[in-house]
Amino acid sequence: MDNAFHRVMNIGDLQTGESKAVQIEGLSVLVCNVNGEYLAVENRCTHQNSALEGGRIRNGMISCPLHGVMFDLRTGCGRGPLGKVPLRTFPLQVIGHEIHVGLQEPAVTEG
Ligand code: FES
Repeated sequence: MDNAFHRVMNIGDLQTGESKAVQIEGLSVLVCNVNGEYLAVENRCTHQNSALEGGRIRNGMISCPLHGVMFDLRTGCGRGPLGKVPLRTFPLQVIGHEIHVGLQEPAVTEG
């Protein structure tokens, strides 16, 4: 797992209020357009692991399609007792018309 940014799509591929999942190094990452601000989180709800893709986005929060827990797309923080565990968030850069996402996994020591 490296810390490099990966080009995932163009800004024109994602309209306001839309989210799309992409695979980066085997991880499903959800890229969201919040009124022209692009944000990336893990595409897996921390409640019961449902995909968040297509969840309603409102006021910077995404609602999980399965049970409706809301997560802040900037911080990953969830609301309510079912959202106690935050989502992973990922750094995102817009370079020209391209969206790039970095994974920035913590270093793993092996052996
Ligand atoms: S799986 Fe997302 S709220 Fe339950």
